[in-house]
Amino acid sequence: MALSRRTFIEHLAVVGGMTLAVAGMEALGFGFASAQTLPPNLTGKGKGTRVVILGAGLAGMTAAYELTKAGYDCQVIEARSFAGGRCQTARKGFTHTDLIGRTQVCDFDEGLYINHGPWRIPYNHRSTLHYTKLFGVALEPFINDNDASYVYYEKGSGPLAGKRVRKGQLANDMRGHAAELMAKAAAKGGLDLPLSKDDRDRFISYLISQGRLSPGTLDYGPNEGRGWDVQHGAGVTPGAGKLSQPYSLSDILGSKAWEAVEPLGEHEQQITMLQAVGGMDHVAKGFEKQVGHLIRYDTEVQKIVQDDRGVEVLFTDKDGKAGSIKADYCVCTIPLSVLKGLDLAVSAPFKDAMADAAYAPVNKIGLQMKRRFWEEDHAIYGGHIYTDIPGVGSMSLPSTGWQGQKGVILGYYAFGSDAVRISMKSPADRAAFAVAAGQKVFPEYAENFETAFSFSWHLAKYNLGGWAEWSEDARARSYAKLCEPDGRIYLAGEHLSYLSGWQAGAIESAWQQIARIHARVNAA
Ligand code: ALA
Repeated sequence: MALSRRTFIEHLAVVGGMTLAVAGMEALGFGFASAQTLPPNLTGKGKGTRVVILGAGLAGMTAAYELTKAGYDCQVIEARSFAGGRCQTARKGFTHTDLIGRTQVCDFDEGLYINHGPWRIPYNHRSTLHYTKLFGVALEPFINDNDASYVYYEKGSGPLAGKRVRKGQLANDMRGHAAELMAKAAAKGGLDLPLSKDDRDRFISYLISQGRLSPGTLDYGPNEGRGWDVQHGAGVTPGAGKLSQPYSLSDILGSKAWEAVEPLGEHEQQITMLQAVGGMDHVAKGFEKQVGHLIRYDTEVQKIVQDDRGVEVLFTDKDGKAGSIKADYCVCTIPLSVLKGLDLAVSAPFKDAMADAAYAPVNKIGLQMKRRFWEEDHAIYGGHIYTDIPGVGSMSLPSTGWQGQKGVILGYYAFGSDAVRISMKSPADRAAFAVAAGQKVFPEYAENFETAFSFSWHLAKYNLGGWAEWSEDARARSYAKLCEPDGRIYLAGEHLSYLSGWQAGAIESAWQQIARIHARVNAA
């Protein structure tokens, strides 16, 4: 018996999961880039198939863009009056009312903004970069690490506790002290190393170079890597400069500030990253230019029903008027935190799986400063200030507008219970909290502060959290189930990826689900 195309693809999916099904689709001419650096190539039939897409965030707009290109008939329902989902930027006039009913209208000067949602793009997120290039979204460097920036830890002990220190000096000293200890032990044969004598000597050379050790004594001391107390320059003394003294190993260990030295341990956290010029919402606007005509704004989904012939989405519009859309399939990008509270016709196990993902409380605040004192007085151009002040997480200095007049500092970026605690304050009190924290690091902070805009994702009505946080157990229990459709409903969004909290997660999850819909339509 000859296999039909549908049976063939379904058989592959059962035996080998999606990867094999995708390979089968490729063999049949559907083509799907395996590493998900490109959208699926939806050749074949799709024309006229109706897809209702819930949410005009990046996942929803990716689905709308690619499916429409392939001839599908798409409609997008969006609860807010603008597209982008979490891809938002606050600039003059941006208004937000949180779940506690507190309204803020951003009153930054023209040209200034804060990305309270996504703010940095890793170079290896090829999917995001595919669309920024395609839609002509201008990018610029995002400084994700800066040796000149400060670490301020106040909870430890010793002379460095409660003292701001340059991150590069701290890192240089920690590297130097560790290299000295290791080099001296290795030279004495004290390290139980599986190394030949030649390799041991090479290893010591490496430590001398990495730790800037004195080759004769293997001591770590003042060096050009950690910098100068009196800058060197032209002319004679003091133009010859004076090297600074390292912090002692014990002082660094006591302060715990070493924790902040190497924060870029993750694949996605790179020293230089990318951001959209003028605000990250330009990424959303790039999509919106393409699919905006398909979006019904200010429309809240109330109920989703389905049977074996189709899906119906019942909604209310801005005036509370009820309506509905029928379609063959539904791509639902509503965050699970919100979706689990909706009237949704899916199986009980699917509902249980939806409830299994936790969502991260996340706070950000933008503080407009009338003078860029961090550049003018401290020579810090972008990067983060690391601190253990509870509720602050990190502060960040803008990677744009250098040497201009004013700038917006990210006053805190915090997660978890500290974020919840601070978010309960009034917007004015949140700003006061952020300014007081910044004042501990920069004496110029308070006198330059002009106006703030704060955002708490767990208090944002259509988000109820910054991003999905899958515990290992919940991931094992529930994630795969949600990647499968329930009837005709396909979920998509960053929550259905291993790139939680990244735009690439939303985009690639949409790619995955539309490829599944397309395979199904073509197998029918
Ligand atoms: N992806 C988020 C960030 O870059 C979590 O901060």
